[in-house]
Amino acid sequence: MKIIVLQGSPRKKGNTAKVLGWVEEEVKSLGHEFENIYLTAKKINGCLACAKCKDIPDSIGCVQKDDAIEILGKMVRADLVIFATPLYFWGVSAQLKAIIDRTYSLYTRYHEPDHASLVEGQRQALIATGGGPYENNAEPVFTAFGRLQNPHKAVNAGELYIGKCTTPDNMDDSIKDQAVAFAIKIIQ
Ligand SMILES: Cc1cc2nc3c(=O)[nH]c(=O)nc-3n(C[C@H](O)[C@H](O)[C@H](O)COP(=O)(O)O)c2cc1C
Repeated sequence: MKIIVLQGSPRKKGNTAKVLGWVEEEVKSLGHEFENIYLTAKKINGCLACAKCKDIPDSIGCVQKDDAIEILGKMVRADLVIFATPLYFWGVSAQLKAIIDRTYSLYTRYHEPDHASLVEGQRQALIATGGGPYENNAEPVFTAFGRLQNPHKAVNAGELYIGKCTTPDNMDDSIKDQAVAFAIKIIQ
């Protein structure tokens, strides 16, 4: 399986990266191809909502020429996309939000009988870490992610929230166990 990660945390050795490391180790040990895309190093403009992409059903068709085009191409070719983010003010990081908004160019005719998507049937998963608990804090991110598969015609492969994070060094084996179980689940 071809797996890509849209890594939305700017911290290369932060909490999200630590959890992702365990996921990477597990899926690679099972023979899967894994690419981590560090979004902070990419130039990804916000969606212009020009809807020019909707005129070209079978291609990405975005008028903007930035790093999002290559990333969206990788998304189209992936079997599984892992969206990874720290919780920032009850939402995803700006880096991840920018590329999510640009996935507007991956589908056409949403809500119409001929709705089509370049990522139809793709598995998509979410990893979020935060300083607070899930309750009254992380829900908005999981609600939004759960809806993203509708326009994408994708499949929700799994979701993982690691809350009450302090530093990566403080993550114990119980979190590693959750990450490994999550890795096994999302490749099923
Ligand atoms: C700008 C900013 C906003 C944050 N907002 C939240 C929040 O709304 N809820 C929460 O639980 N943690 C929040 N945090 C804490 C981070 O989500 C948490 O430390 C996370 O694990 C950091 O991940 P990283 O080490 O991969 O960057 C925020 C941190 C920053 C820097």
